[in-house]
Amino acid sequence: MDQLDELLTCRLDFRRRKAEPCSIVIFGASGDLTARKLIPALYHLFTEKQLPDPVRIIGFARREKSSEAWRAELKAGVEAFSRTKRVDGRLWEAFATCIEYCQGEFSDAQAYAKLAGQIAGFEHAALKQNLLFYLSTSPSQFAEVAEHLSKAGLLKRETTEPGWQRVVVEKPFGHDLLSAQKLNTELTRFAHEKQIFRIDHYLGKETVQNILMFRFSNAIFEQLWTRQSVDHIQITVSEKIGVGSRGGYYEEAGALRDMVQNHLLQVLALIAMEPPVSLEAESIRDEKVKLLRSIRPLHSSQVATSIVRGQYTAGEVDGQPRVGYREENKVRPGTNVETFVAARFLVDNWRWSGVPFYLRTGKNLPLSASEVRIQFRPTPNVLFAAQCGTKLDANAITLRLQPNEGITLRFNGKVPGTSLQIRPVRMHFSYDSEFGAYTPEAYERLLLEAIEGDATLFIRRDEVETAWSIIDPIREGWSNRSLSNDEFYSAGTWGTVAAEQLLAASGHTWRNPQPVS
Ligand code: BG6
Repeated sequence: MDQLDELLTCRLDFRRRKAEPCSIVIFGASGDLTARKLIPALYHLFTEKQLPDPVRIIGFARREKSSEAWRAELKAGVEAFSRTKRVDGRLWEAFATCIEYCQGEFSDAQAYAKLAGQIAGFEHAALKQNLLFYLSTSPSQFAEVAEHLSKAGLLKRETTEPGWQRVVVEKPFGHDLLSAQKLNTELTRFAHEKQIFRIDHYLGKETVQNILMFRFSNAIFEQLWTRQSVDHIQITVSEKIGVGSRGGYYEEAGALRDMVQNHLLQVLALIAMEPPVSLEAESIRDEKVKLLRSIRPLHSSQVATSIVRGQYTAGEVDGQPRVGYREENKVRPGTNVETFVAARFLVDNWRWSGVPFYLRTGKNLPLSASEVRIQFRPTPNVLFAAQCGTKLDANAITLRLQPNEGITLRFNGKVPGTSLQIRPVRMHFSYDSEFGAYTPEAYERLLLEAIEGDATLFIRRDEVETAWSIIDPIREGWSNRSLSNDEFYSAGTWGTVAAEQLLAASGHTWRNPQPVS
């Protein structure tokens, strides 16, 4: 890197709120998310001195166990799942002194009284007043936990007393618009909307945050970001994994609820939204909601022509055999749940009118990759285009969200030599080569923001409800219709033939993510 570039680094978060000492209570402490994501993230924040000092972490769960036993489990989890793997013995010991366990049923008022007693026993006043409740439970328990916390005096809505309390909730936030509205109504009885932090972990990813920086700090790209220059946009989130041990959950969710309602629509909102009036959380969230509201609503009768679903059958991924979805554990025989979705959305606003947004996601696909491709219009049909026809590649910008995080610009160049030949070439920006391999995990960023009370990276009530209102008609369009033969794809392929046809109807083709060597 040119030394000058470093001098040009512009810091935007100098007014960032300070993380005040607080207690973090994790409900669902025995779960997978706690061991794989939450504790490794808190451990890294601790080792980097980003957690407030002092801090306490209390795990609340049903199983009977001592704090020592829980700490030992967590250490094994950090060793297995943390991004740095090696756990520093001394740092872990220091971190472990901040961790305690509280055994209790979510429905038992006594257990909350015990939790309140545990918190009241902390010496530092801020540890008793500043409380972050992380609900890593099933959504059906969110309201119950919040109500008990409120009754135990731990969660106060709009209080003038010193300190703060916040509730972080994991997805899925409801299973349709009605259930999400109900959940919101129930939660807001006990906590103000400002105290509720709905997680979508995609927003914690560096590359997803970079979408706004890329768009609004680069004049040359922002000018191209309109229907005048853009032909269409493709958002692909493909996964090599199948549903594995999550069959039970997946039977209720399916790819549409599990991925499209949240992660893909969030990425779409960031890619397409208008510039916010400021960098404040509410300004950014206002624009995202506005964009989601501009997505042309589909009537359930139009679903077949705009949305394609698929389910994997047995096949191979990376040479490894995979069973079909219907053969997975805890999956109903003959189930019609989708493991793949491809969609065409239109955004009815001034900037994007007429530009298709193609979204696709699926399990057991050939490659794990999340990327956004901005496909520009072809050149006019004169000069080179007149001679090459469709062989002359149109320009594209690909934002590689993961893995091989980076951005690629694709344009045409002359093949050196005495003959006249043109072919596409690429300009790559790679996070690794520019900034080194360090990329914090999404949960590190999200936990820190929740502790600091910055809601920018969390989903607001109207946002989650608008997203459901886009998804509900699609589900309705599918309901009571069994999967037909062409709605299956073999594991290890890029989804159904119908997904190809969805784009072919407008003369487009999917550009599959390519492995980067
Ligand atoms: C989760 C979904 O929200 O996101 C999973 O429930 C999916 O089904 C996961 O595998 C993908 O996240 P990432 O960060 O691995 O792309």
